[in-house]
Amino acid sequence: MVRVDICIGSACYVKNSGNIAKELTEEINKRNLQDQVELKGSFCMKSCVNHLGLGVKVNGRLLEGVTAVNAVDVIMKEIEQAL
Ligand code: FES
Repeated sequence: MVRVDICIGSACYVKNSGNIAKELTEEINKRNLQDQVELKGSFCMKSCVNHLGLGVKVNGRLLEGVTAVNAVDVIMKEIEQAL
């Protein structure tokens, strides 16, 4: 099981993290990975403070450089590598 945490804290939420979580869920379902990926909302993980982009963790590892534009691609790539 791959665990993905997406920050829904205020700084990430205004950068569309809620919508990204929705798009990611759709992509996970489309690829039939819903039994292998656990997607959770998270409080601030300090990516905003440290200028790392949107707050996203895959299996506990904090990603860097995630934006509203590349989020789904970057996160799906990480998920595939973790499976
Ligand atoms: S609000 Fe998302 S990392 Fe801080």
